[in-house]
Amino acid sequence: MTLMANMDSVRAVQFSNEQLILLDQRLLPNEESYLHYTHVEDVAQAITDMVVRGAPAIGITAAYGIVLAAISQKDQSKLNLNHAFDLLAKSRPTAVNLFWALQKMQEVLSTHNTQSVAEQIEKLFETALAIHQDDIKNNQIMGQLGAELIEAGSQVYTHCNAGALATGGYGTALGVIRAAFTQQKIDQVYAGETRPWLQGARLTAWELMRDNIPVTLSTEGAAGQLLRQGDIKWIIVGADRIAANGDVANKIGTYNLAVLAKHHGVKFMVVAPSSTFDLSIHQGKDIPIEARPMSEVTHIQGHEITPEKCPAINPSFDVTPNELIDAIICEQGILTAPFSDNISALLNHSH
Ligand code: MRU
Repeated sequence: MTLMANMDSVRAVQFSNEQLILLDQRLLPNEESYLHYTHVEDVAQAITDMVVRGAPAIGITAAYGIVLAAISQKDQSKLNLNHAFDLLAKSRPTAVNLFWALQKMQEVLSTHNTQSVAEQIEKLFETALAIHQDDIKNNQIMGQLGAELIEAGSQVYTHCNAGALATGGYGTALGVIRAAFTQQKIDQVYAGETRPWLQGARLTAWELMRDNIPVTLSTEGAAGQLLRQGDIKWIIVGADRIAANGDVANKIGTYNLAVLAKHHGVKFMVVAPSSTFDLSIHQGKDIPIEARPMSEVTHIQGHEITPEKCPAINPSFDVTPNELIDAIICEQGILTAPFSDNISALLNHSH
């Protein structure tokens, strides 16, 4: 298969020989380095430290983290994974895929609690693998669904990295971009650099250039000027948590883009699997927003760029109200306003 046909060559998370293997996303694009994990403590730390990031990828990693914890107890008469669940649940707060995956693993444990430790480990592994494989499948479905909305000859803008790197593979927002590009509907992708971790500049640019999809990098501040020019038809982003009313938490800066898009008549698309919806949260304002260290803003790659001790604020996510969103693409279908009713009709049966 050629790269053009495949267009999905990156795997950020892998599991092999009782080891979790993570592509160290902190080092990209300068180094493609893979770290091997056998201890759940290190896996939780890797999530906190951004070795692996992106809502679905965090969920998949956490599921494999539970498998590692179980394997480390294979000689015990009974599994006790409470500590492992606690550690992983504290690793990052906003992406609900993490809690969704942990809950799936917990359910498997409860269902099989009378079986042997070896059988339970097998069931946990099968579940983690299914979470991973289903994520890739869902991304491919969402790619096709989202591409239906894009007209030939479009330019699009994306934020952060919602690509193969952020998921099991193929990507959510970048999955739609991959599918639409394959269908020759997209001429140009703009990627916002995404301060402070530069997921757009380091990761999205790397991922798209690898697959020969034309990408042009933009600073966050240039977005208004770009949208005013009128060639960009869609802003396409991923999500970390979607409330029952369709409000979307995603990488800080997403809300700014949605406001700009509304002002300039540019359409706004969110692409996220059903594991990103949190129907227990009614509105976006109740979604927990991660506050990351100030040093991520005051320093660039370890070098201080501000006056010493300059205070900084570093919310990692923001909430885009549903009224600024034209479409939410999920593997079960395309959601449009009125979001509360349509989300509940589409997802309630499966939650
Ligand atoms: O802090 P990050 O890099 O984990 O944030 C990632 C995002 O905000 C993504 O847009 C989101 O998780 C969707 S990834 C398919």
